[in-house]
Amino acid sequence: MFGLGNLSANEHILDVASGVSSFCAEASVKGYNVTASDRIYTSSPFEIEKKCKQDLDEVIKQMPGLVELFTWNFFKDIRALRTQREKAYKLFIEDFKKNKSKTYIPVEYPATDFIDNQFTISLVSHLLFLYEDHINYDLHKKIILELLRITSKEIRIFPIVNLKGKKSLFVDSILQDQDFRRCQISVKKVNYEFMKNGNEMMAITN
Ligand SMILES: C[S@@+](CC[C@H](N)C(=O)[O-])C[C@H]1O[C@@H](n2cnc3c(N)ncnc32)[C@H](O)[C@@H]1O
Repeated sequence: MFGLGNLSANEHILDVASGVSSFCAEASVKGYNVTASDRIYTSSPFEIEKKCKQDLDEVIKQMPGLVELFTWNFFKDIRALRTQREKAYKLFIEDFKKNKSKTYIPVEYPATDFIDNQFTISLVSHLLFLYEDHINYDLHKKIILELLRITSKEIRIFPIVNLKGKKSLFVDSILQDQDFRRCQISVKKVNYEFMKNGNEMMAITN
């Protein structure tokens, strides 16, 4: 999703709105310094695990009506998607139980208690652009501006399409917004596509 192939182990990575994904758990095992942040981390592992199962059941129930929106290369079929998602949330829960107070920080974006340049890279997956119907442009801007404050090098956002698989209108708005004129902003192809057309990320360099 983020083209992280050449990432140095010295980076301090912030996973923004990381939810129940296993990125933090898996990257930490590989020696990367990752902090996960999400509003759900105020809840207990037990509460989150219960919700993971319910949410996954709901997503999988809806999938047959949505198959056309996705490409089935990375996941072979809905069953494989379920297996992978289950594996990911279980890895997350195990790590969350062990490292809740250390690497899983409750945050309600856009406000954070992180200090200036606390992280070198921030990664945002499946929050901005995708949910443009729920998160308005002003909130997109506030979240990105806060990430620019707490991130020294780069912010990456994936995907840049909305839930209909169309490029979000906010992508051009961000590219043209004068409040971001001091940053370099580019759109880059990545080697992952599950939502059709969802194979690009936005990179914002501080
Ligand atoms: C679709 S999930 C994406 C999780 C993960 N990044 C991934 O790609 O699998 C969206 C996450 O954003 C979190 N979220 C939404 N709005 C938020 C906010 N304002 N502050 C913190 N977390 C938020 C939700 O709790 C949820 O875990």
